[in-house]
Amino acid sequence: MTAVNTTADPLALAALDKLAADLRYHATNNVGFPDATDLDVRPLLPLLGTLLNNVGAPFGPAGPYRGHSKRFELAVVQQTADLFRAPWDDRWGYITSGATEGTHCALWQARTRFPNAVVVASTAAHYGVARVADMLRMPLLTVPTDDRDEIDYAALTDRVRRYRLPRRRRVPVVVVASVGTTMTEAVDDVRKIHAALDTAGVPGDARWVHADAALAGVPLGLLDPDTRPGFDFADGATSIVVSGHKFLSVPMPCAVLVVLDSARPAGHDRLVSYTGSLDETVTGSRSGHAPLMLWWAWQVWGLDGLRQRATTARALAAATTARLDAIGWPAWRHPSPSPSCWTGHPARCWTNGRSAWTAPEHTWSACPARPRPCSTPSSPTCTTSSPAKPDPPQPMPSGCGQQFRVRTRTTSRVRRWRHTRGPSRAERCYPTRVRRSSHGAASDVTAVA
Ligand SMILES: Cc1ncc(COP(=O)(O)O)c(C=O)c1O
Repeated sequence: MTAVNTTADPLALAALDKLAADLRYHATNNVGFPDATDLDVRPLLPLLGTLLNNVGAPFGPAGPYRGHSKRFELAVVQQTADLFRAPWDDRWGYITSGATEGTHCALWQARTRFPNAVVVASTAAHYGVARVADMLRMPLLTVPTDDRDEIDYAALTDRVRRYRLPRRRRVPVVVVASVGTTMTEAVDDVRKIHAALDTAGVPGDARWVHADAALAGVPLGLLDPDTRPGFDFADGATSIVVSGHKFLSVPMPCAVLVVLDSARPAGHDRLVSYTGSLDETVTGSRSGHAPLMLWWAWQVWGLDGLRQRATTARALAAATTARLDAIGWPAWRHPSPSPSCWTGHPARCWTNGRSAWTAPEHTWSACPARPRPCSTPSSPTCTTSSPAKPDPPQPMPSGCGQQFRVRTRTTSRVRRWRHTRGPSRAERCYPTRVRRSSHGAASDVTAVA
């Protein structure tokens, strides 16, 4: 086989240039995926050419292989565990390839501990939950959501009680709480989930509550626990996963899984002689660069910086929603549990002029973003010109409409909830279209006659 010399091959270089141009354009027009982009990772670039393989779990022996970043990974797991109020002497975790792998690992451990357990999740849970339950051959009960898109706690009690009687009365229960549903950022309150399981008669030592906090975990964890929904370890979670490539702005998919060490099954930590480390993770080889980037995000922002980003994002979400409502666009966000406003998902906000319209059903999302190029170079905030529009996208392969249908269904629920509050101005008046100006933040939204 002839090797391609990419440094010389103009076709290969042109393909990379084209991808870079497409990505620049995409960054200013991203629709639907809440990925923050304001982390400057340039100081880490010199390390990208070096293999970093964090094979095996970061807790326990690292083994003789030195090409890893487990020291940094441990620091990130510890910082995340602190944020989520895990007892300092009762924590375990690692950095996964994404939230789905985190949920996979948590449910795998839960199933090892409770071999006949049933998994329970709301109909608004991420689609990965059903897939993980299927892969682990665990039965799955789905529970409807209430008119706020949270799991219906009364229905949860009812479903669990009916499933466990009469033959399965000792079956343990694993609940996956959606801590920020993918579409509306509704939060299943872990404290209320425990109350529902109490009512259903599930003993405390026969349950595991996994919080899928992919999107909202960090911004929620920074709020006062007394005024935000319950979701962390002090609120009763057994395991929590939070994404790195969403609110934390890491430019590669990753997530942090934290599990109560005391809840983990015995014998799950096999020492592998080949690697010299403990085989407790879903995959063998794991990225050592993702932990570095997560660690860098914590270094750059720290708790205060993260809180500041979340606060700014919430304010922008509030302002944007009000502005959209004012122009008659049916924008909506979750009500705040405290006067200082919690928006459903603070990372799903607008900053630096980036917006995301996901469907005609007007679900919108946005994230903290680094300053965008704009089309009015005379503006004081503008340093670059607008990226060129790339070639039109290829036709979507079959099956791509699925996500769209999910959005439509979920946002209909939101609309139903809005209707229970009585008609708003947004429901009386629909604009024909909305234009986004080229710079600025919440004030980007302008009505077009
Ligand atoms: C609530 C929730 N859970 C899980 C996931 C899946 O995360 P990943 O794609 O990193 O596996 C997402 C992704 O958007 C999500 O919103």
